[in-house]
Amino acid sequence: MLRPMTRFEAARIRGIQQSDIRKQSRRCAEVSGVNLGQGICDQPVPDVVKAAAKAAVDGDESIYSKYEGIDALRRAIAGKMADYNGLPCDPDTEVMVTAGSTGGFVAAVLSFIEPGDEVLLISPFYGYHMNILRMAQPTLRSVTLRGDDFALDHDELRAAFSPRTKAVVVNTPSNPCGKVFGRDDLAVIAELCCEHDALAITDEIYEYILYDGHRHLSLATLPGMRERTITLSGFSKTYNMTGWRLGYAVAAPELAARMGVVSDLVYICAPTPLQHGVLAAFDLPASYYEDLARDYDRKRAMILDACGAAGLRPLVPQGAYYLMADVTGAGFTDGREACETLLEGCGVAAVPGASFYVDPADGKTQLRLCFAKQFDDLERAREGIARLPDARRGAARA
Ligand SMILES: Cc1ncc(COP(=O)(O)O)c(C=O)c1O
Repeated sequence: MLRPMTRFEAARIRGIQQSDIRKQSRRCAEVSGVNLGQGICDQPVPDVVKAAAKAAVDGDESIYSKYEGIDALRRAIAGKMADYNGLPCDPDTEVMVTAGSTGGFVAAVLSFIEPGDEVLLISPFYGYHMNILRMAQPTLRSVTLRGDDFALDHDELRAAFSPRTKAVVVNTPSNPCGKVFGRDDLAVIAELCCEHDALAITDEIYEYILYDGHRHLSLATLPGMRERTITLSGFSKTYNMTGWRLGYAVAAPELAARMGVVSDLVYICAPTPLQHGVLAAFDLPASYYEDLARDYDRKRAMILDACGAAGLRPLVPQGAYYLMADVTGAGFTDGREACETLLEGCGVAAVPGASFYVDPADGKTQLRLCFAKQFDDLERAREGIARLPDARRGAARA
């Protein structure tokens, strides 16, 4: 538990709170509920990867690796970047294995962002992006995706850029709303970054989890973006290993070198035996990724149905494994109140939508559900969500 500690607190963490997600998770455990609040995928790690990690532990691969990661893994990542992302890169100067993609984000922020800079976030955003940025004390500006399809207003985006804009943060596919940014949006972001000489930090951790024919596009492949984009991705979501803390950053040599200095200072390196383990994932067949997306598609359908039946209007995600829903049709005026009733009355944890917006009013009537769960948990969640109308009536009477 965090205690208030104002006397010794550094300005850089002032006002930063433990997220709503952690609080909901704790409460969910207390009521033995189904946790659709937190984005932990509880599927097993592929056997070949576990076997390779065990072999690395047994083989005493236990010393620090180079700060940028073991050579074989960087080469494998460069191969994947060329094949999947259409972004050929040099494994020796442009690829860095990081302590989760979060480690890459921290390295980018500490390397390039300082007080006085403006950084542009797209709401709804991933909370860690916002809070890690806040520790570097830039001025945060935001544009909000609006409507049922989370559309980006290009004029609003243009107006949010200024001569002080140092970076824009893009997350595609997006947590929390599942938007997969298409070429039209990314082209405008690219044009504005070039015009204002700004960096782009793109978090592409959900790049393999796509629905309804949506395709992943890396911003760095757009004209002019190669030398100003830090592409972050990782293994947590694709191989169900959020606790292994392995990710990577791809950037032009001069950017990667600066981030390397920081990553070395903060983390020294990503866990060495696990780097050897995850290398085996690169031999998984294409069907692994197809099955992954197909499984999440079935899970998405279960939760979309459950929401619809309970009067929650789901905003259909195009990728990743979260969905946001509007709560007004279920008789609530506030997502927080809906989350409270869902948890206390139905045993299902969700996260209030307001947590994901720079202006909380923008997400006031929304909540977010994560469907990266086992099918039987999702079945329990579906039963719980079905009880929402009764639970609301009960709460209103109490
Ligand atoms: C958008 C996004 N980026 C990064 C992460 C964390 O990734 P990693 O485990 O690689 O640090 C998450 C986890 O929920 C996420 O949703």
